Amino acid sequence: MSETVLALEGVVTFRGRVQILWDVSLHVERGETVAVVGPNGAGKTTLLGAVVGLFRPAAGRVRLQGDDVTGLSPERMARRRVALVPERRQLFGPLTVRENLMLGAYARDERKDLGAEIEHVLELFPPLRKLLRTPAGSLSGGEQQMVAIGRALMAKPELLLLDEPSLGLAPRVRAENFAALGRLAAGGATIVLVEQNLRMAARICGRAYFMERGRIVDEGLAEDLVRTGKTYFAGRTK
Ligand SMILES: Nc1ncnc2c1ncn2[C@@H]1O[C@H](COP(=O)(O)OP(=O)(O)O)[C@@H](O)[C@H]1O
Ligand SMILES: [Mg+2]
Repeated sequence: MSETVLALEGVVTFRGRVQILWDVSLHVERGETVAVVGPNGAGKTTLLGAVVGLFRPAAGRVRLQGDDVTGLSPERMARRRVALVPERRQLFGPLTVRENLMLGAYARDERKDLGAEIEHVLELFPPLRKLLRTPAGSLSGGEQQMVAIGRALMAKPELLLLDEPSLGLAPRVRAENFAALGRLAAGGATIVLVEQNLRMAARICGRAYFMERGRIVDEGLAEDLVRTGKTYFAGRTK
């Protein structure tokens, strides 16, 4: 039987006085990788912010494993093992790769296992092994994205949220990083992947939601949405 890890029910969110999210509902089951796709400005980052506690919904509910977590602080959400890989990575450039990874474990109660956890990240992203002592700021974009994902994994997340991990990466590097995400997904992780490109997301996602102007306007199997092209082109022509 499936278990719902994340559910949004009619979420409304403002930033300042401007309403950004309108009645957003979605669900993510354990072990699913679900895409949220939409053009620039659709509200994808705001949606992730509403999940991790950066924006308190003005209406609606956020549920995590059945519990109402609406409006909990980012610290509380981190303790509940919801980890966000933020847009544009947001690493600490002067700190080494290893130090950036360690920061991801700050919300964990037990810290014994960090060596094993770093090893797990290095197995997923082998190029990082040689870079552990290198300042994150001197890495390539693709390597920085690996560190950002690795940092989130150090929290041993129950739910991993990724905000446009392919942004600004060259196609080959992007494909490598997506392959790593595919391995994570195949390993049973529960993932929400925000992307502008549905085709890209469909490589690793089962279901997808399509967002436009702060609303979910379509949903279904990612491969069906790609095949019909309906929402894909709706997003590209506006
Ligand atoms: N700090 C802010 N204050 C007010 N509105 C914002 C702010 N940041 C973004 N917005 C607006 O919120 C809407 C959704 O933005 P965002 O969630 O970043 O979309 P996406 O991630 O899909 O590109 C956009 O119309 C954007 O102009
Ligand atoms: Mg965004």
